Amino acid sequence: MDISVFVFLSSIFFLFYFVFSHATDNITQSQFLNDSKNTTLVSKEGVFVLGFFSPGDSTNRYLGIWYSNIPIKTVVWVANRRNPIIDSSGVLMVNSSGSLVLLKQNSTVVWFANSTKEAGNSMVQLLDSGNLVLREVHEENPENYLWQSFDYPSDTWLPGMKLGWDLRTGLERRLTAWKSPDDPSPGEMSYGIEHLNYPELVMKNGSEMHFRSGPWNGLGFSGVPEVEANPFFSFRFFSNKDEVYFTFDQHSVISRAVLNQTQYERYMWDNGQWKLYLHFPRDECDNYNKCGVYGNCVIGESAICQCIQGFKPESEIAWIPDEGSKGCVRSTQLSCQDKEKIGFVKFVGYKLPDTTYSWVNQSMNLKECRVKCLNNCSCMAYSNSDIRDGPDGGSGCVVWYGDLIDLKSNVANRQEVYIRMPASEQVDKGKQKMVVIVTVVAAFALVFGVLLIRYCLCKMTRFRDQTRARVLGWSMRFNIICGIARGLLYLHEDSRLRIIHRDLKASNILLDSEMNPKISDFGMARIFGGNQTEGNTDRVVGTHGYMAPEYAIDGLFSVKSDVFSFGI
Ligand SMILES: *[C@@H]1O[C@H](CO)[C@@H](O)[C@H](O)[C@H]1NC(C)=O
Ligand SMILES: *[C@@H]1O[C@H](CO)[C@@H](O)[C@H](O)[C@H]1NC(C)=O
Ligand SMILES: *[C@@H]1O[C@H](CO)[C@@H](O)[C@H](O)[C@H]1NC(C)=O
Ligand SMILES: *[C@@H]1O[C@H](CO)[C@@H](O)[C@H](O)[C@H]1NC(C)=O
Ligand SMILES: *[C@@H]1O[C@H](CO)[C@@H](O)[C@H](O)[C@H]1NC(C)=O
Ligand SMILES: *[C@@H]1O[C@H](CO)[C@@H](O)[C@H](O)[C@H]1NC(C)=O
Ligand SMILES: *[C@@H]1O[C@H](CO)[C@@H](O)[C@H](O)[C@H]1NC(C)=O
Ligand SMILES: *[C@@H]1O[C@H](CO)[C@@H](O)[C@H](O)[C@H]1NC(C)=O
Ligand SMILES: *[C@@H]1O[C@H](CO)[C@@H](O)[C@H](O)[C@H]1NC(C)=O
Ligand SMILES: *[C@@H]1O[C@H](CO)[C@@H](O)[C@H](O)[C@H]1NC(C)=O
Repeated sequence: MDISVFVFLSSIFFLFYFVFSHATDNITQSQFLNDSKNTTLVSKEGVFVLGFFSPGDSTNRYLGIWYSNIPIKTVVWVANRRNPIIDSSGVLMVNSSGSLVLLKQNSTVVWFANSTKEAGNSMVQLLDSGNLVLREVHEENPENYLWQSFDYPSDTWLPGMKLGWDLRTGLERRLTAWKSPDDPSPGEMSYGIEHLNYPELVMKNGSEMHFRSGPWNGLGFSGVPEVEANPFFSFRFFSNKDEVYFTFDQHSVISRAVLNQTQYERYMWDNGQWKLYLHFPRDECDNYNKCGVYGNCVIGESAICQCIQGFKPESEIAWIPDEGSKGCVRSTQLSCQDKEKIGFVKFVGYKLPDTTYSWVNQSMNLKECRVKCLNNCSCMAYSNSDIRDGPDGGSGCVVWYGDLIDLKSNVANRQEVYIRMPASEQVDKGKQKMVVIVTVVAAFALVFGVLLIRYCLCKMTRFRDQTRARVLGWSMRFNIICGIARGLLYLHEDSRLRIIHRDLKASNILLDSEMNPKISDFGMARIFGGNQTEGNTDRVVGTHGYMAPEYAIDGLFSVKSDVFSFGI
């Protein structure tokens, strides 16, 4: 045999031997995973690897799981998070009593799989899902695993992994952030299911609420509708007397969600890199209870904290728009006993309030739900708990007790929530829709120039109900414009006190069912006394695109600043 062929064949043999001798997905009682020998487990289809690693700039050694076929080392689980090994003496083994243990020098136990079940002839295996399981050699039923890493998440949520509760054992599966990229020990941030009556995913900073997803309505989370219909992954919610959890599946992509010390992020592997798909909190309004009780957080408004319809700032003088965590109180007191004087106003497009004090009955319908809520004075709102059959044919009942907190509007959530109001507030909300009259601005643009058209066009994309836009004919637009002018004249000249609105803009104009404009949002208005014609402030509030130059620059305001905004 030609010597070179021999070398070639034997090297192939060696290569095969090498690959096979290392690419095992399991270890049994006589085997070790040895850090100093670089040995690893590789799942059957080569998706995940279990081995020792050092995170970031640290030299500490940890046992962890990462993607095998992704060149950017992405660790998804860590065993000895709290207890690093400072040298390469780490050894993972199934000890003679069948437990999975991680040892360091002198056989000191660093970490062990905390199984409540009695182990016998067991083995540990890394599955293609990224789940590391300890099981009896002949046991295939996942329910009978002695232990599995999916029950003890680190900072990463993988497809098939449950976040939530096993109510039989009290086991809670929740993500906890790494302290830093160099230190996988548990940080302050965690993410898991809270409020088992009407569950939602909640991010906590220590014991403080940080962000809520809003409750699950059968289709999605009321505060995160964007995950509802996407082609890449789908959420599932499961609840019975034994278990309550969320899980997700990926569809022909590689997707993972990870929690760090500032936010929750969902990534997809695409074109050789991890692409960020979404993250929470997204904006200031996602910060828990930003605007206090009955406050409504509206992103894109100059005053992000407003009161929902029927409520006014708790203290009108101390109401600093962006720091308005004081919350709101009812404009008209509620009489509890006199049911004739009580009704409910429908709100759509909101992230539903915090469900800490809520109650659910999946078999009640909306009518029964209303009665349930009406009959208890501390019940402040009700809604269908499940909207899979559409907003009008939804099912189930959820009611809220006590003050409502953490509301956010401008959320594409179809779930309707009915909030208790005195009968005097029963303006039919169905008819009095809030319509952003961008179209009015558009009409001006046609007259006044190109620059504005560009501005309006991008504004227009925010205007969801395009058909509604076409309804506005020229004469109607003209009526609206005149109506606004008349309203402004009243504020400036005709009312008992001179009122400067200071934040006049399209989105602060409401249209009623007859398309009559109403100027709204007096959160920043100033009242002038007697002969005063001009004021000055160090605190310039409002919306920049609409601000008069002398106001934006020097804080000088007068009726002219409103007229300027009107012109825009
Ligand atoms: C454990 O890994 C070996 C290869 O190293 C394989 O032959 C065996 O089938 C695996 N055991 C199980 C139960 O999958
Ligand atoms: C791990 O590997 C080192 C270096 O080869 C060796 O000295 C040690 O005995 C091994 N440990 C076990 C438990 O096999
Ligand atoms: C283990 O892997 C590291 C990094 O891949 C390498 O530097 C080192 O030489 C390897 N050690 C052994 C004993 O193979
Ligand atoms: C195996 O490890 C478990 C967990 O650390 C321990 O309780 C048990 O005593 C160990 N068995 C042996 C034979 O060392
Ligand atoms: C390990 O054992 C040796 C000898 O028994 C001892 O000298 C050494 O201090 C021990 N090391 C640790 C880290 O406990
Ligand atoms: C092990 O499990 C027991 C009972 O489930 C629990 O009380 C204990 O805190 C766990 N220990 C660790 C280290 O997880
Ligand atoms: C969390 O992740 C984001 C984006 O990857 C990053 O900007 C931020 O600095 C991270 N925070 C921490 C505390 O690591
Ligand atoms: C979490 O709380 C700590 C202490 O109150 C604070 O310093 C930190 O900024 C908070 N983290 C976030 C992301 O808000
Ligand atoms: C839920 O509602 C149904 C239908 O009204 C009723 O029969 C059932 O008793 C209720 N369950 C609870 C726990 O209130
Ligand atoms: C109203 O509901 C609350 C919360 O469930 C409860 O504590 C209270 O007793 C109820 N009041 C009446 C009159 O049923």
